[in-house]
Amino acid sequence: MSAPNKSYDPVEVEALKPEEIDRATEEALAAVAAAGDLEALREVKVAHAGDRSPLALANREIGALPPHAKAEAGKRVGQARGAVGKALKARQEELERERDERVLVEEAVDVTLPYDRRPAGARHPLTTLSERIEDVFVAMGYEVAEGPEVEAEWLNFDALNLGPDHPARTMQDTFFVRGQAGSPREEDSGVVLRTHTSPVQIRSLLARELPVYVICPGRVYRTDELDATHTPVFGQVELLAIDEGLTMADLRGTLDHMVRALFGEGLGTRLRPSYFPFTEPSAEMDMVCFVCRGASVGDPDNPCRTCSSEGWIELGGCGMVNPRVLTACGVDPERYSGFAFGFGIERMLMFRHNVEDMRDMVEGDVRFTRPFGMEI
Ligand code: DAH
Repeated sequence: MSAPNKSYDPVEVEALKPEEIDRATEEALAAVAAAGDLEALREVKVAHAGDRSPLALANREIGALPPHAKAEAGKRVGQARGAVGKALKARQEELERERDERVLVEEAVDVTLPYDRRPAGARHPLTTLSERIEDVFVAMGYEVAEGPEVEAEWLNFDALNLGPDHPARTMQDTFFVRGQAGSPREEDSGVVLRTHTSPVQIRSLLARELPVYVICPGRVYRTDELDATHTPVFGQVELLAIDEGLTMADLRGTLDHMVRALFGEGLGTRLRPSYFPFTEPSAEMDMVCFVCRGASVGDPDNPCRTCSSEGWIELGGCGMVNPRVLTACGVDPERYSGFAFGFGIERMLMFRHNVEDMRDMVEGDVRFTRPFGMEI
């Protein structure tokens, strides 16, 4: 900076010439307007309003002017710096506002999006189907009853009128946990993996007050190899109703209702004579095919895969509970009667959903279960 000089004319000092001040101001204002973001504006501020900017340097020259010249030069430079400062501030505010708006849009969080994007998985269709069947009966006033899978041989066979030398006993290929080959009493009975859910009938009659209306879903075991149509572990659902005055007509009506609730209105059922030691009389129960409704029978042009063009689908065994079973459970067969029904749910799932291989149902592959979804 130069020392005061009386003969010094501000207009002679290059930096203080009005054109120079105007030029520097215009350049500064143009640069401010052109700054596209806050970073660029920061640089503009350093270049045009910083210590080494033309206007700051001009300002420094004022000190060396004679007193009479200082006021005018000071006013000019002051106005110029003021204008640049004001423009900087306005542009700064504008750019900050733009940035805030952009950030609000770009960084917005959609709080309605699911927080957990892992696939939801699915329930096993056997569980879902079993619960659907239970629901049908619970709606009719039945209770769900369960029993152990490791069962007393007496409950699995003897109490169900399957004595030690009963020929039907060998029909069910049994896993023995502790073999005893038949026993007249529960206490010294052998132990088996239950071969059917029918022992839950006995448990229910022994444990409950009459009348008894129970539905018993559960897993059962037989010494079969696992292949497309067999599995050593499978599910059954057992039905038992014991009351005064129950007849086969009640059984029939109950089964009709179940079939319609599970497969649709208007589907008929039929009973075919059969034999089970624990029911008398006994029957196999069929339902009209819910796909072709019998139309495929004798029509080779329209075969039905679901019923193999038979028109009927076999569901399970049923009958009026044998009085010997009631007696074994301490129930008076002169006063009480009732019916029972038992069927496998794997088979029902297979024809209901066109599952062709039993192994798909036991291997636990999510690709099998996922299409069935999460119905609960
Ligand atoms: N327990 C029989 C089985 O597993 C199925 C069965 C048949 C159950 C007739 C019943 C019935 O309740 O009445 O082969």
